[in-house]
Amino acid sequence: MFRLSQYLRELDEPAPTGPVRQPPGPVVIWNLIRRCNLTCKHCYSISGDVDFPGELSTAQVFGVMDDLKAFRVPVLILSGGEPLMRRDIFEISARAKAMRFYVGLSSNGTLVDAAMADRIREIGYDYVGISLDGIGETHDRFRRKQGAYQEALNGLRLLRDRGIKVGVRFTMTEDNAAELPRLLDLVEQENFPKFYLSHLVYAGRGNKNRGDDAMWQTTRDRMDMVIARAWRWAQSGSEMEIVTGNNDADAVYLLHWAERTVPDRASDLRAKLVRWGGNSSGVNVANIDNLGNVHPDTMWWHHTLGNVKTRPFSEIWPDISDPIMAGLKQKPRHVSGRCGACAYLDICNGNTRVRAQRITGDAWAEDPGCYLSDAEIGLATPTDRVKTSIYRGTRHEAPLSV
Ligand SMILES: C[S@@+](CC[C@H](N)C(=O)[O-])C[C@H]1O[C@@H](n2cnc3c(N)ncnc32)[C@H](O)[C@@H]1O
Ligand code: SF4
Repeated sequence: MFRLSQYLRELDEPAPTGPVRQPPGPVVIWNLIRRCNLTCKHCYSISGDVDFPGELSTAQVFGVMDDLKAFRVPVLILSGGEPLMRRDIFEISARAKAMRFYVGLSSNGTLVDAAMADRIREIGYDYVGISLDGIGETHDRFRRKQGAYQEALNGLRLLRDRGIKVGVRFTMTEDNAAELPRLLDLVEQENFPKFYLSHLVYAGRGNKNRGDDAMWQTTRDRMDMVIARAWRWAQSGSEMEIVTGNNDADAVYLLHWAERTVPDRASDLRAKLVRWGGNSSGVNVANIDNLGNVHPDTMWWHHTLGNVKTRPFSEIWPDISDPIMAGLKQKPRHVSGRCGACAYLDICNGNTRVRAQRITGDAWAEDPGCYLSDAEIGLATPTDRVKTSIYRGTRHEAPLSV
């Protein structure tokens, strides 16, 4: 996750670059249930409205939580499927809070009525993220349910009105990118304090539908918009926050923006971005799926490191006998193609390996989702890029204008 607003605030009011802080354990995104009342087009967990046998029982979840706590995991993001469809979600959440985890809830928001919002408030979640993939019809089409937008927006409002920190999570493709400005206006008008721009990863139905991914030029245009909005908020002293995810090239794109806009502060920003260090799948971000399988992050469900029913997470996570895990934990990662030649590998850390693997078969090849031009990554001679037309069906990339 890239905290865009935080860096912009620090550009506006410079703060010293502190030492590199090693988090105690990874943030764990935990898909407690795969069942979902929606069947979104891009869903990495390929969820649907059926029961999936073999999910962890309440007692098993509690046992895993004890292990995670002892392993010094600081944050649990409870997700799914739709986590509110799990009957014991509030029991699990209350225990997690009592154990002093930072607890986030990741929901599609459609099941949040006033009574549900009250229960969510009682738990005291530190953060509740709700997905909006467009305005009105666009969201409904994306999420394949008529009325889903209104339900999710209603849920956001009910939670906000109860003093809960809510955020809107927007997964961008070529089909909904045009809605981004309206969504930014919405979060501003509604006073939702956080906006998360999530780039598409080729996992689950997101892999099947990867031809819908935003083109590089589209992504660049939208990044210009979110940077402009976050900069305006930062300069006005607003607490509103924009974060991005699943494309660590965003940090390099921001650095180039700073070199043009506030050149005297760009080297300070560069130092901060290097300290952040880019993609942290398999290092500072972990995933446990509904069956208890452990993965390097949520987009790696096709690659399992072990199962918490038979081996504690605290043993699975540091084990680098798995070649993917060993590669992810290397610093710098041994990536090839444009990523290997990039002058900013120390910032981005090779971006999203799943996209590289899905397109080329090689988890260490260049990430085809990198939307930076050759010049922007410091390449003197143009490279033969992994052809995006391989996966874009009849759609072809327009050449980058820089
Ligand atoms: C799997 S959902 C689970 C929580 C809840 N059902 C929801 O939709 O918010 C978690 C988040 O991942 C996003 N997501 C799902 N598949 C994705 C993909 N292939 N690439 C990027 N984000 C994805 C969803 O849009 C959602 O914001
Ligand atoms: S993205 Fe969320 S709401 Fe959509 S199908 Fe997947 S789990 Fe359900």
